Amino acid sequence: MKISVIGCGYLGAVHASAMAELGHEVVGIDVDVDKIRALAEGITPFYEPGLPEVLSSALASGRLRFSADIADARGSAVHFIAVGTPQKAGSNAADLRFVDAALHALIPHLQKGDLVVGKSTVPVGTAARLAEVLSSSGSGAILAWNPEFLREGFAVQDTIAPDRLVYGVAAGEDGRRATAQLNEVYATAIEAETPLVVTDYATAELVKVAANAFLATKISFINAMAEIAEVSGADVTQLADAIGYDSRIGRRFLNAGVGFGGGCLPKDIRAFTARAEELGRGESVAFLKEVDAINLRRRQRVVDLTVAALGRSVHNAKVAVLGLSFKPHSDDVRDSPALDVAVQLRGLGSDVMATDPQAIENSRLRHPQITYSTDIEETLRGADAVVLVTEWPEFKSIDPVWAAGLVNSRTIIDGRNTLDAAAWRDAGWNYYGLGRP
Ligand code: UGA
Repeated sequence: MKISVIGCGYLGAVHASAMAELGHEVVGIDVDVDKIRALAEGITPFYEPGLPEVLSSALASGRLRFSADIADARGSAVHFIAVGTPQKAGSNAADLRFVDAALHALIPHLQKGDLVVGKSTVPVGTAARLAEVLSSSGSGAILAWNPEFLREGFAVQDTIAPDRLVYGVAAGEDGRRATAQLNEVYATAIEAETPLVVTDYATAELVKVAANAFLATKISFINAMAEIAEVSGADVTQLADAIGYDSRIGRRFLNAGVGFGGGCLPKDIRAFTARAEELGRGESVAFLKEVDAINLRRRQRVVDLTVAALGRSVHNAKVAVLGLSFKPHSDDVRDSPALDVAVQLRGLGSDVMATDPQAIENSRLRHPQITYSTDIEETLRGADAVVLVTEWPEFKSIDPVWAAGLVNSRTIIDGRNTLDAAAWRDAGWNYYGLGRP
């Protein structure tokens, strides 16, 4: 199929590359000329395992090209809108201006029979509004909403072989046509019997935010248990194992620690709350405010634990921070708990040196006041306290005996409960986990 992908950020760049890899003829379009130039040369503007390989192979096949001119969308049968919906400044709501701008820019280039597919995460009701815009444009194109569930770090795999497909379509003939076109786009996944839910616009939009709200709630639930464990002497990691054996609960997303961050979960639960309030049902998801509050408290807890563990004035104490990205296998520092902890400790006057396998550049752009090092040994040398806040394999495999020989004081705060506490204690460390004795 001939496909255009409007917006070549995280979602769009991966989607365009993966669709071309699956055999479609794809043009990726973005207003950012530098980004387009880089992608056209096979350079990914962010770190995502596997993406450089898929991008290069798709470019080499001749099926993938990039353009900064929206007119190049003309001739494609399916147009994916994959632009960002960030949090609005000064509000919890989602900023939809990029989605609106993309559709308006696309409309003059649409032809009868084209399908426009929204992929961006939007407040419920957006698709119905955009369908109206499209229908009154006289372009003859129709709209579907097809939310994306990819995880950073696994984005390519999640796009090529998704765990489910959701199509939000109009009623009647238009809906049947949209479904048939999407089935052609996702022929490989359909053949592999990927679960498919074909539904209305509102349900498709809600599925996406409900899924992220559920995941955020699961993480904050276990972090709330960590808070209780901290005042009762229990161990939240064992608690998570024990409740996780119940298959109705499941162990995944029950890792207590410094909490969730990134470009999705935090802003999506806030936007969901704002939208529910607009719809007069704020009370239905009021708990998400608590989910957010619990999450933010865990960052503070790591900072407080570090200050307490230092056993000396935090001022000028050397603190080694291991991790900056919001999760491993990503260079994304949007709403990153790890970077936030480093910034707060720096703000208290400590001498922070932070390291991360991929996220130093992005962190430095936002927070140049922190000292960064690409070298774990240099980061640890002379430290009065070590704080692990992103569970990269590189940090998990640090030998506590080796590290003991580098630091000034053997104090470690494991903000992800990921280290072998016994091994670190055996090597003479004061080990502090979250929600653990
Ligand atoms: C999330 C969802 O998992 C995807 O399904 C969704 O498509 C995506 O948002 C999106 O809306 O685009 P992602 O932001 O890549 O994906 O990250 P997650 O793997 O969900 O992790 C989010 C945060 O939760 C990370 O900071 C991670 O460290 C934290 N987390 C995760 C925990 O603190 N504990 C856990 O047990 C699991």
